[in-house]
Amino acid sequence: MTTEAVAILDFGSQYAQLIARRVREARVYCELVPWNALREQVERLNPRGFILSGGPASVYDEGAPTLPDYVLDSGLPVLGICYGMQALAHALGGKVAPTGEREYGPAELAVLALSSPLFAGLPFSMKVWMSHGDRVEELPPGFVALASTANSPIAALGDETRQLYGLQFHPEVVHTPQGGEIIRNFLYNVCGLKGTWTPASFVEEAVDRIGEQVGEGRVICALSGGVDSTVTATLVRRAVGDRLTCIFVDHGLLRHGEAEHNLERFRRLGLNVVFVDARDRFLEKLQGVIDPEEKRRIIGQEFVRVFEEEATKLGQFDFLAQGTLYPDVIESASAATGTATRIKTHHNVGGLPADMRFELIEPLRYLFKDEVRKVGLELGLPQEVVYRQPFPGPALAVRIIGEVTEEKLDMLRAADAIVTEEIERAGLGREVWQYFAVLTSARSVGVMGDGRTYETTIAVRAVTSQDGMTADWARLPHDLLARIGGRIVNEVPGVNRVVYDITSKPPATIEWE
Ligand code: XMP
Repeated sequence: MTTEAVAILDFGSQYAQLIARRVREARVYCELVPWNALREQVERLNPRGFILSGGPASVYDEGAPTLPDYVLDSGLPVLGICYGMQALAHALGGKVAPTGEREYGPAELAVLALSSPLFAGLPFSMKVWMSHGDRVEELPPGFVALASTANSPIAALGDETRQLYGLQFHPEVVHTPQGGEIIRNFLYNVCGLKGTWTPASFVEEAVDRIGEQVGEGRVICALSGGVDSTVTATLVRRAVGDRLTCIFVDHGLLRHGEAEHNLERFRRLGLNVVFVDARDRFLEKLQGVIDPEEKRRIIGQEFVRVFEEEATKLGQFDFLAQGTLYPDVIESASAATGTATRIKTHHNVGGLPADMRFELIEPLRYLFKDEVRKVGLELGLPQEVVYRQPFPGPALAVRIIGEVTEEKLDMLRAADAIVTEEIERAGLGREVWQYFAVLTSARSVGVMGDGRTYETTIAVRAVTSQDGMTADWARLPHDLLARIGGRIVNEVPGVNRVVYDITSKPPATIEWE
C-alpha cells in the first residue's frame, strides 16, 4: 500500500482535479473524494493529511457541504482552500461573511507570517488568484492570520499547533505562480511527507497489487494499441505472465497501416494477442447510418459483442483489465450527480461488456495521462507508443461526416497519412496535441487540367491542448499547410479541395462528430 498519501475532499470545485495534479507533481500520491464520502473510503487511503477543495456554496446555504467529523478527529494536518478554508473556519467557531461583491481575479498577497512552514522559502509578496463570494471575517480560536490581500484581511490562516491551515486564494491554478510551492510546503513541511511517489514505485506497487488480486486466475484485456491499453497490458503481463490474453479487434476504421504496426509492436512487447478481423461486420452495421451519436452507439455495441464472442471462445476468464484513467473516473462520478451535459457518447475500445462476468483490473484508475506516459517510459515502451496522439474509440467513423463506406475510408486514410507524415517530418509531432484529416463529404467544383471536377473536400484538423477538454487550432507554418494541401489533392484520388479548420474548442469540438 502507498505509504505517503493525502486525501483531497472535493466540495464541488471546478479546480479539484488541478489540486490533485499539483500534489502529484510534488510526488505525493493523492485521491479526490467527495466531501460526503464514507469515512471508510477515506481511511482506506491511509492519508497523512487532508486538503479541502473550494466549492460554489456558501457555508450558510441550506444543505451546504460541511466538514466531515473524521477530518478534525484524525488530528492530521489540514489545508482548506477557498470554500474549504471557510468550512474549516466555520466548523471551528470562526466567522464567515459575504464580501458584498464576488472577488474574482488576480490579487497581491502580503505574507504576514514569514516563519510559517506554509510560506517557507517564498517572498513576502506574491500574485495569487481569487474567486470567492464569502470570506473569513473572524478567526476561530487558536488561529492567526498568515497573509492578507487588499480585499481579504485574512487571505490565509493557520493554527500551527494543530497544523490546520486555510487559503482564501487558489494555489492550484496557474495564475498563482507560486501556488505549487505553497502546496509542496504543506505536504513536506507540515505533513512531513518526502515525495517518494515515482513512476518506478508506481510500477512496483501496481504489479504487486495485480498479482495479489489475480492469484492464479486468468486475465483478458482489449488492446487498442494506444498508450493506456498498452501500459495496462504490460503491467498485467509483468504480474501474471502468460495468464494474460489480449484481444485486438480490427473494426476496419483504423488508420493507414495501423493494424499491422500494432500487431508487430505487440509481438515485440511479448504480449499474447488474439487478432480479430471484424472489418466486414462493422461496415455492414454502419451502412446507411449518418447520425453521429448513432454511429458511436453502434460501434460501441458491436465492439462489446465481438469482444465477448472472442472471450467465450478462449475459455474461462476471471478478470478484465482496462486502461481507465483518473479523469474518466472523476467524470463519471460527477456525471452520476447529474450535472454534466452529454456532448458526445465517448467510449473506449474495451468498454465494459454489458453483463459483467469479469472482475475488473484498472491499474491506471488513479493516474492522469502524463503520468501514464511516464509509467510507459518506466516500463520501457517505445516512444512512438508513449507519445501517441489520442485516437477516439469510434476511430475514423467520427472523422467521416455522414455515411461510412469503404471508399471514403480509403480516401480518408490516404489523406490522413499525408497529414501525419508532413507534421512529423516538420518535427511538430509532440507540440501539436492531435493532427488528422477529416472527410467532410462536401463536394465542390474544381479544375484539373482543362476539365471541371466536382469532388470531395478534406479538412485538416490540428490542435494544441493540455488535456483535450479545451483546445486551440494549431498555428502551423503556412508552407507546411501548403505542402499538406498540395500533396492531398495530388495524391488522393477524388479530392479536389483541402481546408484548414480554424476553430477552437469550445465552441467546436476536436473531432468533427
Ligand atoms: P472532442 O471531439 O469531444 O474530443 O473534443 C476530446 C478528445 O477525446 C477524444 N475522443 C474520444 N476518445 N473515445 C475516446 O477514447 C471516444 O469515443 C472519443 N471521442 C473523442 C478526441 O480524439 C479528443 O482527444
